[in-house]
Amino acid sequence: MKVHYKLYNEDCIQGARKHLKDNSIDLIITDPPYGIKGDKLHKHYNRAEEYVLQGYIEVPQEEYAQFSYRWIKEAERVLKPGGSIYIVSGYTNLIDILNALRQTRLKEINHIIWKYNFGVYTKTKFVSSHYHILYYRKPGGHYTFNTFCRYSADERDETGISSNYRDREDVWIINREYKPGQIKNKNELPKELLMKMILYSSNAGDLICDFFLGGFSTAKVAIGLNRNVCGFEKSKDAYTYQIKEMKKIKPGGLLEIIKKPKQCFLFNQGKIWSETQKNEVIEKYRNYRKSNNKSKKTIIKNIAREFGRGYFSILNVLKERGL
Ligand SMILES: C[S@@+](CC[C@H](N)C(=O)[O-])C[C@H]1O[C@@H](n2cnc3c(N)ncnc32)[C@H](O)[C@@H]1O
Repeated sequence: MKVHYKLYNEDCIQGARKHLKDNSIDLIITDPPYGIKGDKLHKHYNRAEEYVLQGYIEVPQEEYAQFSYRWIKEAERVLKPGGSIYIVSGYTNLIDILNALRQTRLKEINHIIWKYNFGVYTKTKFVSSHYHILYYRKPGGHYTFNTFCRYSADERDETGISSNYRDREDVWIINREYKPGQIKNKNELPKELLMKMILYSSNAGDLICDFFLGGFSTAKVAIGLNRNVCGFEKSKDAYTYQIKEMKKIKPGGLLEIIKKPKQCFLFNQGKIWSETQKNEVIEKYRNYRKSNNKSKKTIIKNIAREFGRGYFSILNVLKERGL
């Protein structure tokens, strides 16, 4: 599959106005600057400062509310109806992002907590080791949520709990990557986190946008998963370094290495029933009843397996027809 990227060394608000049409983006994943004066957070994560790319552009805290409102209004404009947006934010200026979102038509779907392995060390209070991920959707249109993209309905973890349920809880425990000895952006997002958002909320060939590219991690993962990507980075240093790195990314390369859901027996789960399918179920049920003396429960289980549906889904169709 051929995928492309259009990444600009520009301010995201002006850049979006110049390059992005209304209703053109399937998914936005972005991690805006934090608006924290003298942010030393990255030192705790990256350890060796010489490997951190210089030129990270901050936004003064007093401008943060207005800045958030301006870029989020652009995000709302360019998203397709039904398109999703994930915004990663720390706690300090979260209120400004929430306020900006409330001034749009974007609809909250989940407020996700991303828990990572190392917080900022302190002895005098609890260690802060999470970020917020605000998952919103533009109303109208068809939305993408690939429920079984990582775990099928019948996979269980070692404690017997559904892996699919666990993966879709709104607290995500995903470690940061250390990448010792490699050049990186301040506060780079882990690949695992990005893959999760991209796989659930887009399909191959979709267009993903990142308003704040930083280390281009969203762009790299998107291309690795056969998605098209566009985005902006204001820092010349970060852009000049990372745009060259993009050439090394193999389109679809990540698809070869990611965990794929196991063969799922519930292959039609969640899909809308047609009248024809319902009639087929009724006919099957009647034939089974006539031809063998199995219990109703066993017959329903057999039909559920054939139709790739759950037990109760078949039971409901029978009930609907008074059986
Ligand atoms: C938190 S970082 C993004 C990190 C990125 N998600 C990653 O995984 O590497 C925010 C980035 O936004 C850039 N930035 C700040 N203001 C910007 C603006 N107005 N337009 C575009 N980029 C901007 C900063 O230089 C920084 O690289």
